[in-house]
Amino acid sequence: MIPPVLDVRGLGISFGGLKAVDDVSFSVERHRITTIIGPNGAGKSTLFNLISGALTPRNGKVMIDGVEMTRGSAEQKKAAGLSRSFQITNLFFELTVAENLRLAAQLLEPPTHAFLPIRRSRRAMEKTERMLERFRLAHRRDELAGNLSHGDQRRLEIAVCLASEPKLLLLDEPTQGMSHADTQDTAALVRGLTEDVTVLLIEHDIGLVMNLSDHVVVMHQGRKLAEGPPKVVRSDPVVQAAYFGHH
Ligand SMILES: Nc1ncnc2c1ncn2[C@@H]1O[C@H](COP(=O)(O)OP(=O)(O)O)[C@@H](O)[C@H]1O
Ligand SMILES: [Mg+2]
Repeated sequence: MIPPVLDVRGLGISFGGLKAVDDVSFSVERHRITTIIGPNGAGKSTLFNLISGALTPRNGKVMIDGVEMTRGSAEQKKAAGLSRSFQITNLFFELTVAENLRLAAQLLEPPTHAFLPIRRSRRAMEKTERMLERFRLAHRRDELAGNLSHGDQRRLEIAVCLASEPKLLLLDEPTQGMSHADTQDTAALVRGLTEDVTVLLIEHDIGLVMNLSDHVVVMHQGRKLAEGPPKVVRSDPVVQAAYFGHH
């Protein structure tokens, strides 16, 4: 049996007396979009920190492709195929769009892909070109990343994460602060990603969540409230009371 890309069991961490993530279990199937929703402060970003290795869980397990990596560092988890975009953009603003991508393609390659420098550099260049096309950034290639619109910056950030060819991409609110048009664009783009990668998403735009997700996990006060297909989750009275009720 093929294990899920990500399997989280009984995950937990506290900050002082606050159980930010409390006994959370779920798994992420290959080439699907799994979305975590929940009100502000529900523990979604903390959950990402525990999965990505930015924080070490106090309880529970994180399995990547069937291998336990609970206490793995962010670097070890990246090497295992996990890539994460941050809620705050994480680009080199003083470099161009193409340079950001090329750097990511070159530096983030797993060690197993370590070719001779010249081969590596050619590979990185080819990958950069593909990314520019795919993310509709080709016409902005020589623009400084800092000068891009917010929407273009978020798209570039996703492209940078993908440059290392991860198995699992973690996106924390990729549409935050985007215009409606940019949000729709990003949704289409994320949908297209599942040919290559598996996506674990945190998203606040409920319309988008319903359209985009294969599977939804609802968080509330650090705990998993419900999970299932988007429609089932949305009509769950417990979820409605705790989450949609306040919207
Ligand atoms: N490093 C930290 N130290 C102390 N408290 C934190 C820390 N990170 C998050 N929290 C708290 O944990 C809770 C969950 O936060 P977070 O995971 O950011 O929620 P969400 O992403 O769902 O909005 C919040 O109450 C937040 O204030
Ligand atoms: Mg958050």
